[in-house]
Amino acid sequence: MESITSTPDTLRNNQLADEISALKKEKNAVIMAHYYQRDEIKEIADFIGDSLALARKAAETDANIIVMCGVHFMGETAKILCPDRTVLIPAPEAGCSLADSCDPMEFEKFVKEHPDHTVISYVNTSAAVKALTDIVVTSGNARKIVDLLPADEKIIFGPDHNLGEYINSVTGRSMLLWNGACHVHDRFSLEGIAQLKKEHSGAKVLVHPECRRPLQIIADKVGSTAALLDFARKDDAKEYIVVTESGILFDMQRECPEKTFIPAPAEDAECQCNECDYMKMITLEKLRDCLRDGKPEINVDPEVAKKALRPIERMLQLS
Ligand code: 13P
Ligand code: SF4
Repeated sequence: MESITSTPDTLRNNQLADEISALKKEKNAVIMAHYYQRDEIKEIADFIGDSLALARKAAETDANIIVMCGVHFMGETAKILCPDRTVLIPAPEAGCSLADSCDPMEFEKFVKEHPDHTVISYVNTSAAVKALTDIVVTSGNARKIVDLLPADEKIIFGPDHNLGEYINSVTGRSMLLWNGACHVHDRFSLEGIAQLKKEHSGAKVLVHPECRRPLQIIADKVGSTAALLDFARKDDAKEYIVVTESGILFDMQRECPEKTFIPAPAEDAECQCNECDYMKMITLEKLRDCLRDGKPEINVDPEVAKKALRPIERMLQLS
């Protein structure tokens, strides 16, 4: 029986969650969710992870249907890795400003201008950009993979300029960087974080490497969403200022209920800029409809998929 304190929203969400569970079983589907998804989506997901873990999980699942609760490139990556599976995405319009900052034709021109360079692309790219790439990386394995390459190897790194600068700084490389950025991570306020540090002097600062260089420099930990969560889990501070999309706070709070997590402010205090509006496009209703109707489905042009598979597989082998 529902608690008398249940709100209409909770009742509706519970009802949708029941429908989704039944559909999932009936269709042998697996629901994967990125950390930036809405809390109620993560509560019902079979698997929650960062981009690397989602790609790995997709590669090994035996479910007939993968429902990717994330942005479009995450669904594409799953489809490229599992061409014989149905990959559904509840909000196909959920793009990524970082992936959009790398037009495949422009990128191809850049690559052709530097023919002696190995091309490393962040996973936040379209399949067409991955098809022009030698090795795909995520924020969880970029450093390790770059470190595996010979010291004198010339490298193009795209599209995230901030992540590229971070990898250059920790590996001592001078990779050629594409000038792309994420509209969420590129807008955190250094002053706002300095102010929070004054108010919470013992707080540690957790920063995603898609943030600008000055924020990386003041960080106690720079890492992917999964790495930041892992740090919070194992570290002994009581308070943390979290400089990445605010969805991760739900997971941090759930895993470390005795600690305090403070979302970092964006430069424009008026906007909700520490939320990725693309990630929040997926709702329980859309997830239910997608499972029920078997659409929207992600498909990738077979020629492009064939070329994009190699650099993704190289990433999985190397990390
Ligand atoms: P992670 O791979 O760290 O989860 O990051 C994905 C992303 O889109 C960050 O904005
Ligand atoms: Fe893309 Fe930025 Fe959203 Fe991550 S947070 S999915 S990089 S727009």
